[in-house]
Amino acid sequence: MADQPTSHPRKKLYIETVGCQMNVLDSELVVARLRDDGYELTTDIEEADAILYNTCSVRQHAEDKIYSALGRIKQLKKRKPELSIGVLGCMAQKDQNLILKRAPHVDIVVGPGQLARVPELLTIAKAEAKPQLAVSLARTAGSRDDVTSSFDNYDSDREPSVRPSPFQAYLRVMMGCDKFCTYCIVPSVRGPEQSRPPDGIVAEARALAGQGVKEITLIGQTVNSYKFREPDGRTTRLSDLLARLHDVEGVERIKFITNFPNDMTDDLLQAVRDLPKVSRYIHVPAQSGCDLVLKRMKRMYTVGFYEDMLARLRETIPGSSVSSDFIVGFCGETDESFQKTIGLVERSRFKNSFIFKYSPRTGTKADDLFADDVPEEVKKRRNHELLELQTAISLEDNMEFVGRETTVLVEGRSRSTTRREGWDGVDQLSGRTHCDRIVVFDGPERLIGRMVQVRIENASGVTLFGQVVTAERIASSV
Ligand code: SAH
Ligand code: SF4
Ligand code: F3S
Repeated sequence: MADQPTSHPRKKLYIETVGCQMNVLDSELVVARLRDDGYELTTDIEEADAILYNTCSVRQHAEDKIYSALGRIKQLKKRKPELSIGVLGCMAQKDQNLILKRAPHVDIVVGPGQLARVPELLTIAKAEAKPQLAVSLARTAGSRDDVTSSFDNYDSDREPSVRPSPFQAYLRVMMGCDKFCTYCIVPSVRGPEQSRPPDGIVAEARALAGQGVKEITLIGQTVNSYKFREPDGRTTRLSDLLARLHDVEGVERIKFITNFPNDMTDDLLQAVRDLPKVSRYIHVPAQSGCDLVLKRMKRMYTVGFYEDMLARLRETIPGSSVSSDFIVGFCGETDESFQKTIGLVERSRFKNSFIFKYSPRTGTKADDLFADDVPEEVKKRRNHELLELQTAISLEDNMEFVGRETTVLVEGRSRSTTRREGWDGVDQLSGRTHCDRIVVFDGPERLIGRMVQVRIENASGVTLFGQVVTAERIASSV
């Protein structure tokens, strides 16, 4: 008996993830479940027994990419009929059976609220030789409670090996969104807003710290709307949650994304100011600098309100950095409205901005009510102009760091480096400041996951470059 094989060879899983941090975390959880089911990861799609795409519907381009990937693997499935193919996430929830119509070689279509069922669905699809569809209720398909409970929470499964870095982890504090900005598909595909109980969040943070995680990023579509009411009536706000997480031993840095301008309350700003582990970095998208456009987007604030909020933020948290998102070419955006966005970016001095061309989404209010009337070339031109302006501002602000010392949490080897011939044993490392600026510097790999002092010597719009000043001390302490 002793020399009998004791286990089956592990099946190979290939997974590709697009979209936001929610999807990165979801993929980690799916992989955790599939590992328990006998799968191991591969980066070689040709040798995979299961291919999964975790998808995004926020813009057309993200969907097109997945449909063409599905087209490409059609031949693979013909050659290997036992191969399982899955479409997970937001596009699965949005397109449902349409995916099976367009790509009949797909075996499972699983929405973001049903991901815990992926292993079971793969097995059923195989056993019944029939594609399986598992999605949550549409927002109008039942009472709020019914719809909410059709979006399942399975956050406790974690799988360190698939995280982008062993020292960093996402932690979901809320699911869904209730804001219904007119351009946005997220509330339909991610379901109603739900804040998770704080005890579970703190327990998860402790578990992550136990796995060696030093930086936790709390995620939610509007993370600063977080509010949990205990049965006895006590309420936990995001500021209270930050204070509790601050006490978790081993966690050295805490971030939270993404914020909604209207919910940027003073208690939250004061918490960021007073809790040293919390990054002095706030991502709070403005989307447009024109009141008429904001109204059509149903963002529920004016440019004046946004700028007052920014002033309050900067007064409360000295040394903080702020980043934003913008949509250019939204329905009815004139040259004049675009110039107002330019004005807002000039005045606001964001650390960086993510700029998107408006992409109409079926099922959204904007798609029903307004014409997509800004031509593609105009969208492109505005995107380019706004990005150039933002990059110039980022460079000016980054240059102010030159000559200064800053504390950096080292995240890993710089993406641009490969160990070439004649490598001298020193890697190019990359990390971030307390205000979330990227810093690249030379140093030994063992600094990864540690805080180091770096003197900044140069800067570009996206990166600060420097030299470690505490290398000796760190070297002698290990
Ligand atoms: N919950 C976050 C962001 C969600 S989507 C928030 O409210 O800030 C991320 C970004 O994608 C948005 O901030 C917006 O700038 C952009 N976006 C959303 N829908 C879009 C669409 N239909 N076309 C182009 N960009 C879009
Ligand atoms: Fe979309 Fe608006 Fe919700 Fe953000 S707040 S996810 S942009 S609906
Ligand atoms: Fe995309 Fe879904 Fe995130 S639509 S942006 S992956 S919530």
